Amino acid sequence: MSTDTKNLKATNSALEISITRPDDWHVHLRDSDALSKVVGHTAFQFARAVVMPNLKPPITSTEQALSYKSRIMDALSKTPVPHSLKGSGFSFEPLMTLYLTDTTSPQELEKAFSAGVVAVKLYPSGATTHSDAGVTNILSTYPALETMQRLGMPLLIHAEVTDPLVDLFDREAVFIERHLVQLRKDFPELKIVMEHITTEEAAHYVQAGDKYLGATITAHHLLYNRNALFTGGIRPHYYCLPVLKREKHRVALVKAATSGSAKFFLGTDSAPHAAHLKEHASGCAGCYTAFSAMELYAEAFDAAGALDQLEAFASFNGADFYGLARNKGRITLRRESCQMPESLAFGHAKLIPLRAGEALPWRFVS
Ligand code: NCD
Ligand code: ZN
Repeated sequence: MSTDTKNLKATNSALEISITRPDDWHVHLRDSDALSKVVGHTAFQFARAVVMPNLKPPITSTEQALSYKSRIMDALSKTPVPHSLKGSGFSFEPLMTLYLTDTTSPQELEKAFSAGVVAVKLYPSGATTHSDAGVTNILSTYPALETMQRLGMPLLIHAEVTDPLVDLFDREAVFIERHLVQLRKDFPELKIVMEHITTEEAAHYVQAGDKYLGATITAHHLLYNRNALFTGGIRPHYYCLPVLKREKHRVALVKAATSGSAKFFLGTDSAPHAAHLKEHASGCAGCYTAFSAMELYAEAFDAAGALDQLEAFASFNGADFYGLARNKGRITLRRESCQMPESLAFGHAKLIPLRAGEALPWRFVS
């Protein structure tokens, strides 16, 4: 039993846990109106968040990353602070990333890293939302990867092949065999994060790797298997990429996240899309979980009887992997029913958070 047990306070059937303020190591905040609607949800739960660069056009330069960062801070400054956080001295820092292309230059990466850009994201071209400008040939990125290895700048990978002949549910496992094994041989000291892992193969591969390899895991991949996509009809709000897999994979992810291994850390992959674009003949991929991110993770860890492992997963392992200081503040979560709204405002559209209209078993207190 870890030392975190002292933070579990039981009062009758209610239970409260207090953990170091967590970070989200993978989130989509979008831009403009959408940004202003979602930024508070992330900033009021997490001290820092690694912000994905898949805007239109993508964030490929230091200048774009810094200007995006100031738009995020500006949007946050206009967001009303919830009552529970007033006077708590809370702060939020977006950690910026660059979008890797076939032509990203070593010079741009050096400039970005010294300007505080924390990492670089590799989207195989065509793998997911706004990935068309992504990498078409990993070999063409080798000069960039060489530079990142030298700088100690992590490479964040959307690890799915795009080969249409490979079954959608196998694309992550095939990426490991076809690309990751070789990539890690060619760059043994490049820090690599397999983002939003969804399979037993990925969990085992990361677990067996050395200190240069880590992985983020979403709350929805800990809570659901692929049946959630089809319960009583097609359920677009459970559709994301990489897609939910079968139950044995969910079980393997829960085991990895709650194992105490420092190689696994929290990354919501919260990805807002207007409701009408998800409830569509060709619905967008992405689950919106930022609204209740820590409540969902607490639910998953509680169901596994592993609340004592939540703090390391949510608040320590990612910071340690990136070589950043751990946070100082704390948050409190309570096992108490918490009603989710049916929808959220999203400019002229609506945003449907995961579990809209349902009661969650955990509440974010402060
Ligand atoms: C993300 C998005 O909408 O930007 N969608 C998703 O399903 N996760 C992109 C991504 O991370 O793949
Ligand atoms: Zn993502």
